Amino acid sequence: MIELVTERLRLRGFTPDDVAAVHAYAGDPEVCRHTDWGPNTPAQSQAFVDEVCAASAPGQPGPTTWAVTATGEVVGACSVEVTSAQHRRGVMGYVVAREHWGRGFATEAAAAVLRFAREDLALARVEATCRPGNVASQRVLRKIGMQQEGLLRSHLLIRGRREDSLLFAAVD
Ligand SMILES: CC(C)(COP(=O)(O)OP(=O)(O)OC[C@H]1O[C@@H](n2cnc3c(N)ncnc32)[C@H](O)[C@@H]1OP(=O)(O)O)[C@@H](O)C(=O)NCCC(=O)NCCS
Repeated sequence: MIELVTERLRLRGFTPDDVAAVHAYAGDPEVCRHTDWGPNTPAQSQAFVDEVCAASAPGQPGPTTWAVTATGEVVGACSVEVTSAQHRRGVMGYVVAREHWGRGFATEAAAAVLRFAREDLALARVEATCRPGNVASQRVLRKIGMQQEGLLRSHLLIRGRREDSLLFAAVD
């Protein structure tokens, strides 16, 4: 899969060796506070890595998911998925391990993935959602040039609770 290189980060495909690094963030309840997955068990982190490794083979449908690495260490993940080829529309997401928060890594990785989505995948509309309480993620989305479009009421069922989402998008 295509690697994306930024000033400080290399976004590469996941490998089977990344399970421990994934579990370090995906098993962290604070990281998963606003996500509709996790906190993972070790088996769930293993299953995630197995799934993204299998999906990274050329021609596979589904999301493209990169391991976000800084000086060789996995610090998070970023993904983009084409949700409609006909309408050239996609959705992206990201996560960063708590020990690396506040260093601009999510912004740098998400900007690279948004650029890839617009330029390489030729998507005319790239969406992202986040919970209204996830102020850091909203900040990331605004910094990469996305605009808030609306509130999706009762959008997700997260650990037994219905949660709203804010909808953001970048468009041509
Ligand atoms: C959201 C997340 C990806 C941000 O990662 P990060 O690498 O720390 O993000 P950055 O450093 O690039 O930018 C964070 C911005 O939010 C701001 N921020 C962080 N916490 C904040 C808070 N509680 N209130 C207001 N702003 C906050 C930072 O100051 C920064 O903005 P600035 O550059 O204008 O100062 C990370 O916290 C995370 O992985 N959270 C859990 C998973 C998640 O929520 N993923 C997104 C799902 S929508």
